[in-house]
Amino acid sequence: MQRYSLAAIFLHWTIAVLLAFQISVGWALHDLGARGFALFQLHKSIGITILLLTLARIAARYWKPRPAPAEGGWQGALAKSVHGGLYLFMLGAPLTGWALVSTAKVKVPTLIFGVIPLPHLPLPMDMHEWTEGGHELFAWIGVALFLLHVAGALRHHLLLRDGLIWRMMPARSSFWLILLPALMLGGLALGKAILPVPPPQAEAAQPAAANVMEAEEDTPAPVENQMEAAVEAAADNAAAQAGNAAAPEEQKPVGPPPAWNVQPGGRIGFSVGNDGEMIRGDFAKWTAKIAMDPDHPDSADIRVDIDLASASVGDAYQDGMLLTDEFFGVAAHPSARFVAKGAEKTGANSYRASGTLTLKGVSRPQSIRFTLSGSGGTRKIAGSATIVRAPFGVGSGGSSTGLDPRVSVDFSFSAIRQ
Ligand code: HEM
Ligand code: HEM
Repeated sequence: MQRYSLAAIFLHWTIAVLLAFQISVGWALHDLGARGFALFQLHKSIGITILLLTLARIAARYWKPRPAPAEGGWQGALAKSVHGGLYLFMLGAPLTGWALVSTAKVKVPTLIFGVIPLPHLPLPMDMHEWTEGGHELFAWIGVALFLLHVAGALRHHLLLRDGLIWRMMPARSSFWLILLPALMLGGLALGKAILPVPPPQAEAAQPAAANVMEAEEDTPAPVENQMEAAVEAAADNAAAQAGNAAAPEEQKPVGPPPAWNVQPGGRIGFSVGNDGEMIRGDFAKWTAKIAMDPDHPDSADIRVDIDLASASVGDAYQDGMLLTDEFFGVAAHPSARFVAKGAEKTGANSYRASGTLTLKGVSRPQSIRFTLSGSGGTRKIAGSATIVRAPFGVGSGGSSTGLDPRVSVDFSFSAIRQ
């Protein structure tokens, strides 16, 4: 019995395992949003690897002798068409994926395995929907062809018992027969296992933050609604400022509020829609000075300083972009500051503080919402703010055209009364 060359066998199974991983990760990417950012990079890197391996495989097909077709007639023609279709899938899936990221409004840079930059294909932007649909369609067609292909292989092995399956195994041994398909299942399982889970700390903070998010209607809005939403958010901030100015007349100030020490382990994060994907990041370095009596929030004194160079979206290339003038411009303005004198109670444990945000040298009214939980000398603070980025000049260049106008900032930390 003539076998495929070792090169062909190696490439057949390596590509099969990688494809299983790709499909399993691909279908999860949609729902992951920001948490999937690093996974998007991995998906793109492995996709391009499959493209290169497939080109090598096609070269090997003509370069190394291949066994003659096992069957003629319609079964032979079907096997030939399925194999042809599988080659089309192995080329079409990565190419449509590449085309889809190249035609997206925001050109999110791709670094193959964090090292080699992948250029964007020079394609018209109005092809985006086609490329996106095509990418998904190829995946479905690939799965259907794969099922036909495996059914054919099993027919030969179990019904015809003609030993055809050994043509694609390095040796005639049940070790390979079990191991290689099992590796494919491993690829599928790994694709699921690698999906990021929210850190327990974020989960703990979620119940409190969830109320705030709901109150701000912060579920990701479709792109066409985002301008309206930005205008609403700006109006909300302006109204908040007006309300704050009137507050001293309405409420009598009460003694100096107690100061709180922010405990290590808290977080300030941000998220912003980027042409259908959600980019999510954290500021690793920030400080907060808080003086507030939860029963008399009007005398609160809040100051938060954020080191903008500590922003990270989990991708070195993008983090570098955040430092540039197009985004935070940290060389000229290394930090952002939020200051609020006074807060108002908006519910049993929820508050709103209207103050001023200074970012990139621009100061504007900004409100934040937060909830307090716990009692006595220890409190958990969780909250959020919606920042309209344009007035601050954040994301002003050509690579930000698909970025949502609003950026959500969320925070959670514990504080102990001094
Ligand atoms: C053989 C390789 C590949 C396979 C089998 C594959 C498979 C998939 C699948 C099944 C999805 C989910 C489709 C959906 O629900 O819309 C997906 C999404 C995606 N893929 Fe791939 N992919 C491959 C290569 C690539 C490459 C090379 C890139 C980019 C360079 C890429 C970029 C993307 C992106 C950006 C998404 C998300 C699209 C969206 O959210 O609508 N893929 N992929
Ligand atoms: C459990 C999974 C799989 C099994 C048991 C299997 C088995 C086989 C066998 C026995 C052959 C040789 C057929 C012959 O000699 O006529 C073959 C060829 C082939 N397989 Fe698979 N395969 C599997 C998965 C895949 C996957 C995932 C792909 C790609 C998406 C794929 C693509 C191909 C192609 C294109 C050929 C034809 C090679 C050529 O003649 O150039 N296979 N496969």
